[in-house]
Order: sequence, then structure tokens, then C-alpha cells
Amino acid sequence: MSNGDRKHTTTDAGIPVASDEFSLTVGPNGPLLLHDHYLIEQMANFNRERIPERQPHAKGGGAFGQFEVTHDVSRYTKAAVFQPGTKTDTLARFSTVAGERGSPDTWRDPRGFSVKFYTSEGNYDMVGNNTPVFFIRDPMKFQHFIRSQKRRADTNLRDHDMQWDFWTLSPESAHQVTWLMGDRGIPKSWRHMNGYTSHTYMWVNADGEKFWVKYHFKTDQGIDFLTQEEADRLAGVDGDYHTRDLFDAIARGDHPSWTLKVQIMPFKEAETYRFNPFDLTKVWPHDDYPLHEVGKLTLTRNPTDYHTEIEQAAFEPNNLVPGIGVSPDKMLLARVFSYADAHRARLGVNYKQIPVNSPKVPVHSYSKDGAMRVQNVSDPVYAPNSKGGPQADGERWPTVETWEAAGEFVRAPYTKRKDDDDFGQPNTLVNKVMDDAARDRLVDNVVGHLKDGVTEPVLKRAFDYWRNIDKTIGDRIEKGVRGG
Ligand code: NDP
Ligand code: HEM
Repeated sequence: MSNGDRKHTTTDAGIPVASDEFSLTVGPNGPLLLHDHYLIEQMANFNRERIPERQPHAKGGGAFGQFEVTHDVSRYTKAAVFQPGTKTDTLARFSTVAGERGSPDTWRDPRGFSVKFYTSEGNYDMVGNNTPVFFIRDPMKFQHFIRSQKRRADTNLRDHDMQWDFWTLSPESAHQVTWLMGDRGIPKSWRHMNGYTSHTYMWVNADGEKFWVKYHFKTDQGIDFLTQEEADRLAGVDGDYHTRDLFDAIARGDHPSWTLKVQIMPFKEAETYRFNPFDLTKVWPHDDYPLHEVGKLTLTRNPTDYHTEIEQAAFEPNNLVPGIGVSPDKMLLARVFSYADAHRARLGVNYKQIPVNSPKVPVHSYSKDGAMRVQNVSDPVYAPNSKGGPQADGERWPTVETWEAAGEFVRAPYTKRKDDDDFGQPNTLVNKVMDDAARDRLVDNVVGHLKDGVTEPVLKRAFDYWRNIDKTIGDRIEKGVRGG
């Protein structure tokens, strides 16, 4: 039968194929023939379809769009992506942290909020979460933290006892846990949540002046959340609820957007601020550092191939462009190593040649060869050279002087400042930000979570942990769990 206007099937080498239905056999009932290379290609490809999933943040979805600068922040950063009127193509990916690739979107968990900006100065990645803080402040604990949220060795089950064991032995987690157990711990959709860098970054202007910044992508759809009951129901009937919501919204032309605002701290102020402004478990109160508007992120285009465009997307906090730098946040400094390492393990050394990860500017690096390299390398392959190869330009793009550091090599917490405590900000969240109904839901959520498998002595520690955040809330939680 003729194909008419339809494309004809080919092998991966482009050779026309005779049948997509029948293997080559000796007679209609006979054995298969090994030289049916098309059948073998189909089976071999299938067997290799799965690549390792991301260790954390495995379940997610994403879309393409633009970021447009609407307000002038050029006195704070020279980054081309943030100059007035600039429009930059972007990719955003949203995710849960602990769940595997097939896990429900509506589990209570922070959400990843990653944005890749394909800027005129190379790729800039903002790899944040939907929360302004994090559970820990030293990267040594990150691996342990994630393991405590994933699965036990024996049952291969997630285990609230393990989660609360880690949290209650890590009081610095109190702010993020309060946030997580509150309404924003299960967003209604990815469209209905904010995104934050959480970390402090550095901005540098054209005169070399430095500032500390935190980003807030505020949802233009409005904040909305799911109750625990709604989320549990959806986890059963539609595990891909958030993935579907984003895809359907964009498909019907309802393009979600976020307004980027930043908090800016003068460089010197960080030395004397009342708490360590680089501590990832703390926000900068808006009263001290108000929000300045920068621009708008709008998602307009769905992927057409999830695997090549989203699953193989590689975000890395080290992708920073001139005018944007890191800060002394120890977590951030570790992340700057960790992500590229994860990509090399998961996607291979040449992962930046996968189109979704390739910059839209020419690449003139001295990297060479390696598995799956597809872009040609040209001579000279070394520097310095007198053969016309690319040359670094330290005058145009100087290394940004960051901050001064000196001291013995130690393993120690940050030096304590006056307001550096673990429970003050979660207390503010509970008492000044949440209303009565939100506090009731917080108590219900924690009680439900603790009743689900948490045992002594972890349980007692959990009550004390909450009493440290707020005495009344702690007492209510204990009563809710123990009854009476
Ligand atoms: P503000 O009153 O100026 O800000 C309160 C913030 O809380 C707003 O950003 C609001 O976000 C957010 N919020 C509202 N409801 C919840 C909730 N259920 N869970 C989490 N966040 C919520 O006060 P401060 O800046 O002094 O901050 C007070 C507390 O608010 C902090 O301790 C922190 O827990 C929380 N917070 C602070 C942020 C900051 O960067 N300063 C950012 C987010 C939370 P929105 O305006 O989008 O509704
Ligand atoms: C994913 C490490 C803290 C946000 C990942 C991945 C690793 C990792 C290895 C998987 C990357 C991949 O395979 O693609 C770490 C380490 C941390 C840390 C070592 C602390 C020391 C954080 C924090 C945030 C964050 C504080 C948010 C502010 C994300 C996001 C992803 C991710 C959003 C998914 C990226 C994507 O969409 O592909 N992290 N992480 N992580 N992490 Fe972290």
C-alpha cells in the first residue's frame, strides 16, 4: 500500500523500512532471522531508552519562554540579560525534590524552580526553589538530608520517622519545615507558586561596584495551594496533575508568567547585618530590604520531546554570566561544583552539546573529544598558541573580586551574630504571616504527618522542636498526636 503524503519509516540510518509490523522469519511460522537489523535496532534502542534520573528533583516538567526586563537595574548589575528592554529566550523546569520520575506531583515537598536564560553572554542558570529558605546551611549535610527524605534501605519505603529524626536533630531546618507544613507545601499548580534563588548572589555593575541580591519570581497567577486531602486524592487519580496543568495551560494560550523582583543589600552591609545574610535558612525581611522590580518571565511554548528538551536539560548554578557572581553561602559554593558533576555522570561529559543545553552564542572553548561529542573541534587545541586560537580577555571580562577570607582551615559553623537563631523566623511565619485558618491547617498537616509512622524518641523531639518555634503550636501538635 502506498504511503500517500505520510512520511515513510526509515531505520536510524535513514534507510526505508519494509514493515513496522512483521519481523523477518523463515516462512510465516518460522524462526526469526538475526539479520533483521531493523528489529534488532528497535529492541536495542528500547533497551537503552531510560537514562538515570536526577538524584533529587527527578519528577518534573517544563516549558520554554522569554524573560523581558521592564525596569532599569543597570546601576546594580552589568549583566546583559538584565539591561533595560532586553528579551532573552528561557527554559523553565519545575520539580518535586524527593520523588522518583513516576512519583505523584502532589506530594508535600518543596518544588524546584529552574530557569535557563540563553543570554548574549552565554547561558545563565537560576536553579532555585519555590521556597525562600532551605533545610540546612552546610553542604556536608545535604546528601544525608536527601537520603532521609527518600527511601529506607530495608523496606524501600519513604519513612516519616526518618524524616523527623533528621529534622529534629537539625534545628536549622525549623524555618523550612514550618514553610513546608504550611499551605505553600503543596502548591495548586506550578503556575500558582513563586520561585526564589533562596541563596544570596552577587551583582556587579559596570563600575565594578558590588551588591548582594536575592531573587523572587512572584507568580502573576496568584498563590494557590492544595489541602492535604485534595493532594492525596489527586496523587491517586492523576499523579501528573502539575505536569498536565502546565502543558494544558500553555497549549490553550494561557501563558503563565512571573514578575522578577530582587532584594538588594549594599556590599558592606553584609558584614554588620544583625544575622548572617548568607545563611540559607533565613530570609531578608522585606522591611529591611524591599523588593525592586526587574522584569517578567513568561512561558509560551511546550516541549515537543520531553526527553531531549526536559529530561536532558542540565541546570547548573555555576552557569553565571559577567555581572553575576556567587556569595559566601557555603551551600551555594558546594552546588557550584555538584551540578556539573551530576550532569557528567547522568548525561555524559559533552552534555552541553545537547541542543537544549547549548548556548545561543558561539562556543570557543578548549574542551576536546570525549563520548558523544558532536561539534567539531578545530586547531589549535591548546593555549597559549600563536596560531590564531581563542584568547581569554581579562580586561574586558575581569575575574570578579569577591570577598576577603582568611583563617585556619576549620570544620565549623558560621560565626554567630546577634540574631542568628533557628526559631525566630519560623515563629514570625507562624504568628505574623499565617492567619488562624492557616495555623489550623499547619497543625493538622503536622499531626497527620507525625501520626504516620513516627516513633519515640523522635516523636518527643518533634513536639519540643515545634514548641521551640511556638509554644502553643507545639502543645496543640502534641495534643493532636497523643490525643486528650
Ligand atoms: P512580610 O510580611 O513582608 O512578608 C511575608 C511573606 O510571607 C510574603 O512574601 C508572603 O508572600 C509570604 N507568605 C504568605 N503566606 C505564606 C505561607 N503560608 N508560607 C510561606 N510564606 C508565606 O514579612 P517579612 O519579610 O518580615 O517575612 C516574615 C516571614 O515571612 C519570614 O520569616 C518568612 O517565614 C516569610 N517569608 C518571607 C519572605 C522574604 O523574603 N522576606 C519570602 C517568603 C516568605 P506573598 O507576598 O507572595 O504572598
Ligand atoms: C537538582 C545537588 C541544594 C535546587 C539537584 C541535583 C543535584 C543537586 C546533584 C541533580 C542535578 C541533575 O542531575 O540534573 C544539590 C546540592 C545542594 C543542593 C549538593 C546543597 C549543597 C539545592 C538548593 C536548591 C536546589 C538550596 C534551591 C535553592 C535544585 C533544583 C534541582 C536540583 C531546582 C533540579 C534542577 C532541574 O530542574 O533540573 N541538586 N542541591 N538545590 N536542585 Fe539541588
